[in-house]
Amino acid sequence: MHHVPAPFPSARPRRLRRTAGLRALATENTLSPGDLIWPVFVRDGDNIEEPVASMPGVSRLSVDRVVLAAREAADLGIPAICLFPYTGADNRTADCAEAWNPGNLSNRATRAIKEAVPEMLVMADVALDPYSDTGHDGFLRSGVIVNDETVEALVKQALSQAEAGVDIIGPSDMMDGRIGAIRTALEAAGHQDIILLSYAAKYASAFYGPFRDAVGASSALSGTAVGDKRTYQMDPANADEAMRMIARDLAEGADAIMIKPGMPYLDICRRAKDTFAAPTYAYQVSGEYSMITAAAQNGWIDGERAMIESLIAFKRAGCDGILTYFAPAMARLLG
Ligand code: PBG
Repeated sequence: MHHVPAPFPSARPRRLRRTAGLRALATENTLSPGDLIWPVFVRDGDNIEEPVASMPGVSRLSVDRVVLAAREAADLGIPAICLFPYTGADNRTADCAEAWNPGNLSNRATRAIKEAVPEMLVMADVALDPYSDTGHDGFLRSGVIVNDETVEALVKQALSQAEAGVDIIGPSDMMDGRIGAIRTALEAAGHQDIILLSYAAKYASAFYGPFRDAVGASSALSGTAVGDKRTYQMDPANADEAMRMIARDLAEGADAIMIKPGMPYLDICRRAKDTFAAPTYAYQVSGEYSMITAAAQNGWIDGERAMIESLIAFKRAGCDGILTYFAPAMARLLG
């Protein structure tokens, strides 16, 4: 500690909490719209806004609507939007070829946003789950999610996203060696300024449940021989391992790192920031959003206050920014 506080009554810590003005002066952390990255679900069609049942207030948007959402986000001061495609059954195949189709949903949305709202940073997810018939992030061969063959596909996916004009690539697949492979390929293709925001410490979490509904991956995953992602995503019991993953991804060329999920892993956020002093982000995932929203809908908690408290906690834990489905609601409040 920096100093030993004087004993009572010389010290009365409540002096600094007496009025709103004093509390404002004494506050240690702040939130601003510039801290937020907004994950959005994209689907086919025109002028469609289709609510996700397990995520009240969140919808799958057709590309034209995503563009409107990006405009709205930019006006609110949100710097980045992260695209997650809801892929039709026809485009979920064993070879996952839709993942690197220049005309896939994610790439079409990227082009449309960059054309209409050029200042909006577009982030895309690298992983095969939206395109695989198994719901897994990699290829499943004889009961094994194969690493190196998956990395080759992820590189093709990342290059197609780069060609479409993304600003930030977020590999969320947890294969080994993908950051280095993607960085090398991006440099070779002349995409020297694309940010790699690595999902470096991504845990095998129950809190992804509503997301898997939103992108249509739940039933596929539970139907396969390998019904969970524990052979590639991390064990929630581990913290040292997260530090090793972050060190590795930074060494392979990540510009920034992410911890995911968020709220149950604030210790990892703090330790990562203290250890690496790198740009550090947390993903407040779908289950975290839905817990807060559902409890609020039932009148059990004050949803707005819980949202603010959950987001300031990430700043307090050392994060530079947060991926959150609350981004527009929070930015509106701050505005
Ligand atoms: C898959 C991916 C997932 C999320 C983002 N990318 C789910 C998973 O790993 O199964 C989860 C996001 C959320 O729950 O909000 N590559």
